[in-house]
Amino acid sequence: MSITDAKVRDVLATVIDPAINADLVSHRIYAGCEIDGADVLVKVELPTHAYPQALRRELATRIEAALQAAGARRVTVVPTVVTAHTPAPSDKALLKGPKNVLAVAAGKGGVGKSTVATNLALALARHGAKVGLLDADVFGPSIPTMLGPPERPPGTAGENKIVPAVHHGIKVISVGFFVDKGEAVVWRGPMVHRLLQQFLGDVEWGDLDYLVCDLPPGTGDVQLSLSQLIPIAGSVMVTTPQEVSIVDVVKGIAMFEKVEIPILGIVENMSHYTCPACGHRDEIFSHGGGKRLAQEVGTAFLGEIPIDTRIRFGGDAGVPIVIASPDSAVSQGFMQLASTVALKMAATVLGKPKKSPRLAVIK
Ligand SMILES: Nc1ncnc2c1ncn2[C@@H]1O[C@H](COP(=O)(O)OP(=O)(O)O)[C@@H](O)[C@H]1O
Ligand SMILES: [Mg+2]
Repeated sequence: MSITDAKVRDVLATVIDPAINADLVSHRIYAGCEIDGADVLVKVELPTHAYPQALRRELATRIEAALQAAGARRVTVVPTVVTAHTPAPSDKALLKGPKNVLAVAAGKGGVGKSTVATNLALALARHGAKVGLLDADVFGPSIPTMLGPPERPPGTAGENKIVPAVHHGIKVISVGFFVDKGEAVVWRGPMVHRLLQQFLGDVEWGDLDYLVCDLPPGTGDVQLSLSQLIPIAGSVMVTTPQEVSIVDVVKGIAMFEKVEIPILGIVENMSHYTCPACGHRDEIFSHGGGKRLAQEVGTAFLGEIPIDTRIRFGGDAGVPIVIASPDSAVSQGFMQLASTVALKMAATVLGKPKKSPRLAVIK
């Protein structure tokens, strides 16, 4: 029996993508084929640069096995990365270049939200994605300190355009660039809204796969304004294992649900401490709170990050651990977390039926 386009499609509709956990046809991973006798070249579109290498091989193996079982001889799988995203509806089209906005949130301050946002952004970039980082914590911007001196400082271009800074290869904007340290600014709701409008609409972000937003802790004006101004592809909630922090996270989740920001899951930071001298693992703040909480509120547990002096040092010295010690277990953990988060976002996007963006209503 000869192989045809239709046959290839039918076979691949039964193959499950190992990273997205859905079939290749309905989730638009399969992107066409070329047939030469019994030889088949299969084009696949991976929905994120953070698609793990091991799973890329597994995907190719599954495709080869399925097609060979259906009579194909040589099967070649050619992957390209096409970052999955949903075009913004016309009433939320302020942000031009970035494909996906990822919000990093927490119920309260000091749990490591900025640390997670920064290292997650850098990990996505290390996977090969084009990444921006928006410090939306206007009340306590810490991203400039965490990233140290920029490769390129922020600037302006033409009329009213802001050029983002570049740090370790990612584009960055923070209110900390424009306000002197120690200068107290009282941000009221309408000011926050206007500032975010500028940071989203007037910054030349360019084409980005991901714009990571470091939100202020809790639930307030920034969260509300962002959800009104742009579509947010997903959010992660950072928590520490103690109960107090967990109560705040529950409040945060409830607000996000109200303003329709999808919650991808929970990250437990400062999860445990492994003594660098003896290897003993100490669960300083107890352990497993994040996992329990995720179960209780019915969301995913995305991963845990240990307490590590190098994380704190990296944050203070301006060289985050993902850059300073790329091969460390902690950095590997951030790389994995970036994959998990990007794949979850992609699965949400690809699971929805493809439709064209809503047409603007002409008034
Ligand atoms: N896993 C960790 N191990 C060690 N220090 C950490 C860790 N996560 C955060 N820190 C440190 O804790 C402090 C607070 O973290 P930060 O990211 O600024 O919190 P938040 O943004 O939630 O207020 C910083 O000094 C940071 O370097
Ligand atoms: Mg912070």
